[in-house]
Amino acid sequence: MQHDETGGALSEAARAKINLALHVTGRRGDGYHLLDSLVVFPDIADRLSLEPATVSELRLEGPFASMLEGPAQENLVLKAIHRFAETSGTSPDVRLTLEKNLPVASGIGGGSADAAAALRLMERFTRRSLPRQQRLHLALALGADVPVCLLQKPARMSGIGDLLTPAPAMPPAGIVLVNPMEAVSTPAVFKTMTKRDNPPLPNLPEDFPDLAGLCGYLEQTRNDMQAAAEALCPAIADVIATLSALPDVLFARMSGSGATCFALCAPGKESGIAEAVASRHPDWWIASGRL
Ligand code: C5P
Repeated sequence: MQHDETGGALSEAARAKINLALHVTGRRGDGYHLLDSLVVFPDIADRLSLEPATVSELRLEGPFASMLEGPAQENLVLKAIHRFAETSGTSPDVRLTLEKNLPVASGIGGGSADAAAALRLMERFTRRSLPRQQRLHLALALGADVPVCLLQKPARMSGIGDLLTPAPAMPPAGIVLVNPMEAVSTPAVFKTMTKRDNPPLPNLPEDFPDLAGLCGYLEQTRNDMQAAAEALCPAIADVIATLSALPDVLFARMSGSGATCFALCAPGKESGIAEAVASRHPDWWIASGRL
């Protein structure tokens, strides 16, 4: 077996994908929406590990394992493994263990992050990498957010998720994620939206000098899916109101199609914010980390 630096099975963090800003700028003929989004990956993650096996197999662990619907065979992670094996001419026979720490259908790209981690693991395990365009095509076929999750670095994502440009490095910041524990369907939110031809993101600066600079930029941006998501899931507005009322929260918004919302704060303040939210709303999912 190939081992990683720590001597265990190969393992990858599948970090939450946070849309700091998400503008919907149009709709293609096939119904897919054109987006312009600033995407970041805080250190709050699922974990996927890989070991050699005689058949391909997925084991689910962690607090949200039981929320994954359908048989494990239909999980995007196994689809990713099989597509990679077909395309690269390698064997898909590996045992994957997914520690599902992030809530499902929650606007933070959990399934996409897991699929991207599966592709990165297969590249490491087989020591094969696909040509750039083929790799992007394979990722996009698994889901619109999979290409940006493969990169797992701050990026401006446009097109339907296929056009990626590096974004400036993020300033030191704490982040708190809060989900009211209601699943929201992405297609349902897209369907509920009334306006789909919104202006793109304002130009990104060369870099963000500090957190105030990042928040100042974000104040000029939107999440164009937030109003439609709040109409379907009113608890999102409660989450935003709860976060915004806390003095250490510098900026709060919904990610993706919801219902997870994020709050930005000075580094070190994230645990206190998480505790304050948990004391008021013990039923909500709350995680804190660094941007
Ligand atoms: O690609 P993914 O499976 O993540 O998308 C889920 C659904 O969200 C799609 O089937 C589509 O209805 C919608 N979608 C969209 N425009 C995008 C991404 C997703 O309309 N850019």
